[in-house]
Amino acid sequence: MLKKNIVLIGIMGSGKSTLGKILAKNLRMNFLDTDLLIEKECKLKIKDIFQKYGEKYFRKKEEKIVNKILSKENNSIIALGGGTFLNKNLQKKILRETISIWLKASFKIIYNRCKNSNHRPLLQNKNNLNTSLKKLINDRYPIYRKANIIIIANKTPKILCDNIKKKINKINNL
Ligand code: S3P
Repeated sequence: MLKKNIVLIGIMGSGKSTLGKILAKNLRMNFLDTDLLIEKECKLKIKDIFQKYGEKYFRKKEEKIVNKILSKENNSIIALGGGTFLNKNLQKKILRETISIWLKASFKIIYNRCKNSNHRPLLQNKNNLNTSLKKLINDRYPIYRKANIIIIANKTPKILCDNIKKKINKINNL
């Protein structure tokens, strides 16, 4: 059993939740998706939280819930929302207390996954999806890069799981 939680970081559409569930099964760990926990607490979908209360309100809820999860859980794989790691307080806690993995996906993969999705408030306007995604990548990739492990997300979940297990073992044996 790992002493630390594993936290999955990455831009919308990078596959954090899909990979997280598979990885959790594989490593016999629990799986948590913080966006789902926020939705449960607010009794609203993320898109509706943004629409009704605005992004600032969402970010406050996100900070509170992720903080709580990081403090009380162990042996868990935690998939974060794409903006969570940008919060400096959470970033410090994540880097100090967890094994963080950045699922680095190419523009093409993300674009194809996001172009048909309708539940992401930051990417609602499909007319400028190209520009919005490029801006998010430019702004965020230098920050995501601080994660302990970087995994290029262009392989099957099975291969990604094997790569992650090898990298975690390396860190754990240090
Ligand atoms: C966000 C990503 C979303 C969700 C919210 C904000 C972001 O999560 O938390 O819409 O700022 O990138 P996913 O990355 O799971 O889509």
